[in-house]
Amino acid sequence: MPLQHPNFGVIAEDRIIIFDTTLRDGEQSPGFSMNLQEKLRMAEALAELGVDVIEAGFPIASPGDFDSVRLIAERLKGPVIAGLARAARADILRAAEAVAPAERKRIHTFIGVSPLHMEHQLRMQPDEVLAAIAETVTLARQHTDDVEWSGMDATRADPDFLCRCVETAIRAGATTINLPDTVGYAVPQDMHRLFTMLRTRVPGADGVIFSTHNHNDLGLAVANTLAAVAAGVRQIECTMNGIGERAGNASLEEVVMAIRTRHDAIACRTGVASENILKTSKLLAAITGFDVQPNKAIVGRNAFAHESGIHQDGVLKNAATYEIMTPESVGWSRSSLVMGKHSGRAAFRDKLKALGYGEVGDNQLNDAFRRFKELADRKKVVYDEDIAALVDDEVLRGHDRIRFVALDVHAGSRGPATAELELEVDGQGRTARATGDGPVDATFNALRSIFPHEATLRLFSVGAVTEGTDAQARVTVRLEEDGKLVDGQGADTDTIVASARAYVHALNKLLVKRMRSAPGDLADAMRA
Ligand code: KIV
Ligand code: ZN
Repeated sequence: MPLQHPNFGVIAEDRIIIFDTTLRDGEQSPGFSMNLQEKLRMAEALAELGVDVIEAGFPIASPGDFDSVRLIAERLKGPVIAGLARAARADILRAAEAVAPAERKRIHTFIGVSPLHMEHQLRMQPDEVLAAIAETVTLARQHTDDVEWSGMDATRADPDFLCRCVETAIRAGATTINLPDTVGYAVPQDMHRLFTMLRTRVPGADGVIFSTHNHNDLGLAVANTLAAVAAGVRQIECTMNGIGERAGNASLEEVVMAIRTRHDAIACRTGVASENILKTSKLLAAITGFDVQPNKAIVGRNAFAHESGIHQDGVLKNAATYEIMTPESVGWSRSSLVMGKHSGRAAFRDKLKALGYGEVGDNQLNDAFRRFKELADRKKVVYDEDIAALVDDEVLRGHDRIRFVALDVHAGSRGPATAELELEVDGQGRTARATGDGPVDATFNALRSIFPHEATLRLFSVGAVTEGTDAQARVTVRLEEDGKLVDGQGADTDTIVASARAYVHALNKLLVKRMRSAPGDLADAMRA
């Protein structure tokens, strides 16, 4: 029977709700943190992708988390905006305040339900947990009609107790019941059995949407998700590129394309515009600095590359011989060769749109276009990846306090390297000259002398954006300050320039982190 839902109205039986938690479960994993503007940009891309629910953050976790959920709730139209809350009054009230401006909003509240979680983490008796569920779901319902309840570590819970928890949540007014495999322990058969049992045994189960949330510790998150769907689950919780705690969450692009490609086996549909998958994946990689592995399903650069002669021959004769879906259906173009030095500003703007950069402001467009022209002069062939890597500096970092301006380096085998670096800090030009053990060290020393700070360099990694000796280098720099980690990225055909850009990006992120952890003392946080 079709369900009536407060935010979605009547939901057809075959319609799967895609609940994206890239900005919450994904963002909370080490190295994947995003600043306010980056989260907003990612939320806009997810809305364009067509997800139904965006879990925008965990508002009580920090003032920065609250601000980003609130900003997304204010600005984003279309998807339901959810805020996460533990089973505690203060959490629910904070989440309610953060999502209040949303056109369509949800409070998502959770509590541990396995013996391990109740005894060792919550130190609560089962009856106390049941009372907390009733109280917090009731409170959440006073702030919104759309309330999701999650039983954390549900796959290791006692089945009879889990039934009582779910019944309590439904009676208190939950409209979605989510049963996470928090530790990635389940196998597909468990998942199918669990949801079949709950949907059969719990009174009121036919009036709510069941949801699945799977972690990938055994590499089974997508398989478990599809097994849950086969057992009648109609909401999938997932993340772009599968990012998330530890080994990550079920990957959005994989579950969506499995459902679309194998409609014969999984007779369901989602509202995702699959042609937007690749650009959303790339945007996330650009923001976080973590590329997916080349053989990653759907969005890895080899996902549609045919190397063996027999395969190439088959694809040329009929692509279906070795392709179960078309590359275009997820946003790949058959050729990624793009523009050259004669391309104009209008074509460049169109290209940015196609690459997922939406509407770019005139100043950012001018800066990015200038850098594109410089690159096209230096590099024989400019690929989409080159343009994406280059404009990330200008478009995603428009709000940064520190900006890279220029760098001159002398290096070689005959003595210490020297670097002369020019930065703009709060609009003021500053230069410094420094020596070091190699050009990167000299550059970072110059940077520290312009902008003194205590952060420790934890990671320095260099990769190539495309192939060939004239390829741009993409550098990642990880800094640590007071136990907080930030990653910065930079790209350029000159590896040392890319390194300086990456360091500057990481520093800007650090400033944002300082502001988040000391919201009352803005002046301090902004002090260099
Ligand atoms: O994995 C998990 O249990 C979670 C919950 C907070 C939903 O992320
Ligand atoms: Zn999770």
